[in-house]
Amino acid sequence: MSDLHGSRVLLGVTGGIAAYKAALLARLLVGAGATVDPVLTRGAGRFVGAATFEGITGRPVRDEVWQDIPGETHVALGRAADVAIVYPATANVIAKLAGGHADDLLTTTLLAATCPLLVAPAMHTEMWEHPATRDNIAVLCRRGVDVVGPAVGRLMGGDLGAGRLVEPDEAFERLVAQLRAARSRADDLAGRRVLVTAGGTHEPLDPVRFLGNRSSGKMGFAIAAAAAARGAKVDLVAAPSALPTPPGVERHDVTTARQMHDAVFALVDVVDVVVKAAAVADFRPADVASSKVKKSDGAPRLELVANPDILADLGARRAEGHPRPFLVGFAAETDDVEDNARAKLTRKNADLLVVNDVGATDAGFGVDTNRVVILGRDGSRTEVELAAKSAVADRVLDEVVGRLPAS
Ligand code: C5P
Repeated sequence: MSDLHGSRVLLGVTGGIAAYKAALLARLLVGAGATVDPVLTRGAGRFVGAATFEGITGRPVRDEVWQDIPGETHVALGRAADVAIVYPATANVIAKLAGGHADDLLTTTLLAATCPLLVAPAMHTEMWEHPATRDNIAVLCRRGVDVVGPAVGRLMGGDLGAGRLVEPDEAFERLVAQLRAARSRADDLAGRRVLVTAGGTHEPLDPVRFLGNRSSGKMGFAIAAAAAARGAKVDLVAAPSALPTPPGVERHDVTTARQMHDAVFALVDVVDVVVKAAAVADFRPADVASSKVKKSDGAPRLELVANPDILADLGARRAEGHPRPFLVGFAAETDDVEDNARAKLTRKNADLLVVNDVGATDAGFGVDTNRVVILGRDGSRTEVELAAKSAVADRVLDEVVGRLPAS
């Protein structure tokens, strides 16, 4: 039986010449056993008729917010969908999705949908390459939308270039992959307890100053959110961060590396997995002034002492014969990235090490996207291309789940 059998697919069709290909995609989906809800924008309806979609899907075609007010069509359609795709997606609908607009049935429905969303752009090369479209696509990627294509090829009017809608079979395969990933992840951490550390520690110098680092906590918070969504009981040990606590996550706020060490070791016997996404200060000031250091006293001398290495201590504890917890470290490297990371994996006795190249501007500290390599103690190496931190979080957890002993 196909992965799509029994699933509900929301098929958004917008007004481009390639809209006719959406009928072929609808046929593939129906043929694989999916229930397809076609939602056409007004522009789409000028290129391809609603009757075509009704005939193929056996479902009513919706194109108006004002239909079936009592049934709250947009909310009902959005909630019912297991996966949604906008095929083709014009520059206009991409801009509206990026801006959170809800001025027709499709955009309103997609704002109410919580399922995975794929967007397949189709437009002329100039429009695809316009900074506005680039920015809008970047916003969607950051939110975890899967942007499929566009392909390079023949465009309307005989032009050649980037902007061609991907073929229906390619969109179909991506959609199946998204659905399969969402399904296999559902509750695959149920019954497990996962501890995540996040953010950058603050090491006080005096009551108002501290030594810190540029970690925002976004990666660790994304992992906590993803683990909770997959059914785990999650403890998030968070260094100072303004980020909201993800739903279903128990948060333990700490400030310094030593506090983080204590919070982690207080839970170490009851958790199955520790993910150390936090950027922990390796050193702290030897003395903390009890009142604010005054400029008039001249430049203070800074003497630093080493902080505990929490991950290494966890690894050492395991080497002493504790089989749990499974240990995931992070490494923020700027040079000889993978060699240094492999050495770190061994030195700290971790099971997995997630390597960030923090020299890049679109990955690592502060931004919403990341590009990582996941190294395994077993010698494995998994590259995760640039993606939303939420998507990277799921890829990291995929690697963890596959290695956990049966519970
Ligand atoms: O040695 P380095 O700081 O690059 O190692 C990074 C990994 O070790 C991260 O997972 C980080 O959370 C952890 N770490 C730690 N305690 C420290 C320093 C780093 O747990 N004092």
